[in-house]
Amino acid sequence: MAEPKSPSDAILGIETSCDETAAAVVTRDGVIRSNIIASQIDDHRQHGGVVPEVAARAHLSQIDHVIRRAMDEADLKFSDLCAVAATGGPGLIGGVLVGTVTAKAIASSCGIDYFAINHLEGHALTARLTALDPDALDSGSLDQGGIDQGGIAYPYLLLLVSGGHTQLLAVAGPGSYRRYGTTMDDAAGEAFDKSAKILGLDLPGGPKLEALAKDGNPKAYDLPRPLMHKPGCHFSFSGLKTAVLTTYQQAIAPHGDDPQQKADLAASLQVAVAESLVSRSRNALRQFKSDYPDMTSPAFVVAGGVAANRLIRQNLEDLAAREGFLFKAPPIGLCTDNAVMIAWAAAERMAAGLAPDALDFAPRPRWPLDPDASPPPGRGVRP
Ligand code: KG4
Ligand code: ZN
Repeated sequence: MAEPKSPSDAILGIETSCDETAAAVVTRDGVIRSNIIASQIDDHRQHGGVVPEVAARAHLSQIDHVIRRAMDEADLKFSDLCAVAATGGPGLIGGVLVGTVTAKAIASSCGIDYFAINHLEGHALTARLTALDPDALDSGSLDQGGIDQGGIAYPYLLLLVSGGHTQLLAVAGPGSYRRYGTTMDDAAGEAFDKSAKILGLDLPGGPKLEALAKDGNPKAYDLPRPLMHKPGCHFSFSGLKTAVLTTYQQAIAPHGDDPQQKADLAASLQVAVAESLVSRSRNALRQFKSDYPDMTSPAFVVAGGVAANRLIRQNLEDLAAREGFLFKAPPIGLCTDNAVMIAWAAAERMAAGLAPDALDFAPRPRWPLDPDASPPPGRGVRP
């Protein structure tokens, strides 16, 4: 495992905003020294979704153990760290409190800096943490970490697609975002999760639906492509979810839940989400180009859990090539929630000269990246 430049360039990251308790150690120059993720999926499976109270209790019981493993694997003591960073929002408040209090305790007892990280900023900046070899990451060998920001300079266009968010943003640096579009109702990940539930799939819905779609015909069912070919960069996915439900009730359930029909519906849903993301992203890429006309090789970055979907990644990569953008997505294992991205966001903040946070930071259940963005038509405020 690569040695850090000096012991004091290591940052401990902590992520507890949803249903993963995660801790990781990343150096300021982008070497991942450990990456521990304890999923709570088994605790939530019996309820058919993430239950905030259950999540908070599970974070509390897991956090010490997960941090201990991250430190052991990094082969570091707390006194070797230069900073500790924890997700400070947005997310389920019980979990965010657990991570925040833990990070503050470590910071104050070790006399090191504390960073409260916006979870969305973690996703937004991950792709700058190099072309980590996804196979190396999956196999647990992290030696190939390293940093190659040459590919993605600020500013770049980001599509953030997760379970709670679907946003297009110009990323000018840590703490500096301009939102082009967001969802007017459900997030893309919700469309996957809710459709998976309708199809009777187990948690986690998105990956299970992707696996089922492999054997399906994407043209079998004509599902809506919300806002397709309309101007602007906002999204809408709730109509798609309703269409999946009616199709299932009318065309599949009465025929005895035929597995092939279910695979066809999964494939049809996946392609509808992909086309919808492509259509809205195309408008954003063009807006970005007119906002930054001097950029010779602008980058299009996709991040968040839904970016783990291979069809969606491929369609977005093709779009980027057509529009003259460089395409980057984090390796699959760093698209879904993890603590590497939280430690890395702190490294980016330090590199940009941004100050650490005070120990009286109050967790923020809602925390928009671009606080000045006006809400999309027809809906209220979303983080
Ligand atoms: O970023 P993430 O781990 O957590 C949030 O911050 O929300 O994203 C989780 C979301 C879930 O909705 C999950 O179903 C979706 O990402 N997801 C996928 C895939 N892997 C995760 N959706 C489609 N295909 C996948 N392979
Ligand atoms: Zn996330």
